[in-house]
Amino acid sequence: MVLTVRALKPENAEAWKTLRLEAVATYPDAFLATADEVRAMSADQITQMLEAGMWLGVFEDGALAGMTGMTRPTSARAAHRAEIGGFYIRPACQGNGAADALMQALVVHVRALGIWQLELCVAEKNPRAIRFYERHKFLRQGRMPNIVIGAEGPETDLFYTRDLRG
Ligand SMILES: CC(C)(COP(=O)(O)OP(=O)(O)OC[C@H]1O[C@@H](n2cnc3c(N)ncnc32)[C@H](O)[C@@H]1OP(=O)(O)O)[C@@H](O)C(=O)NCCC(=O)NCCS
Repeated sequence: MVLTVRALKPENAEAWKTLRLEAVATYPDAFLATADEVRAMSADQITQMLEAGMWLGVFEDGALAGMTGMTRPTSARAAHRAEIGGFYIRPACQGNGAADALMQALVVHVRALGIWQLELCVAEKNPRAIRFYERHKFLRQGRMPNIVIGAEGPETDLFYTRDLRG
């Protein structure tokens, strides 16, 4: 099995939408967006988003196995920060190193942009993702109550940061 990671480009728009729909449909509690919201995204919107070069895809033997996005604040004083969103590995590829490869490439990618603080929110009831992020040196900074209203009521996220200096 060969794992490669590269930035997703506008020509990956269709594959991005297919994988994103799979992610939110399979793990509705893990992502903010709903399947309907993803379905409603136009090809132009997705193309524009991918043009910014802030989505990375991990490929297993050439097939897209997972992806993640990064958002950077627009203010100059916050240019050292990026928030990770939409981190997803297809169930068949979980536990095989694809997530590690994606995270390692993400760190290289953002460092090259001068970013040294990564941030993310993860659902309190997502122990697998929490374990994964903590193994990748993310530190828990706090809880964010009522982040979304889920099927059973308000849900809580945990807020994590990772300092890439040193
Ligand atoms: C979160 C995700 C990206 C991690 O990728 P992965 O390939 O599953 O990660 P890994 O297998 O490398 O690491 C997961 C760790 O959680 C552990 N784990 C698995 N199930 C667990 C559970 N129920 N409770 C606690 N830990 C658990 C694994 O044993 C592994 O720990 P280890 O490193 O000590 O062996 C992937 O599972 C995924 O895409 N999940 C669905 C979408 C999602 O939740 N995205 C995150 C949104 S914030």
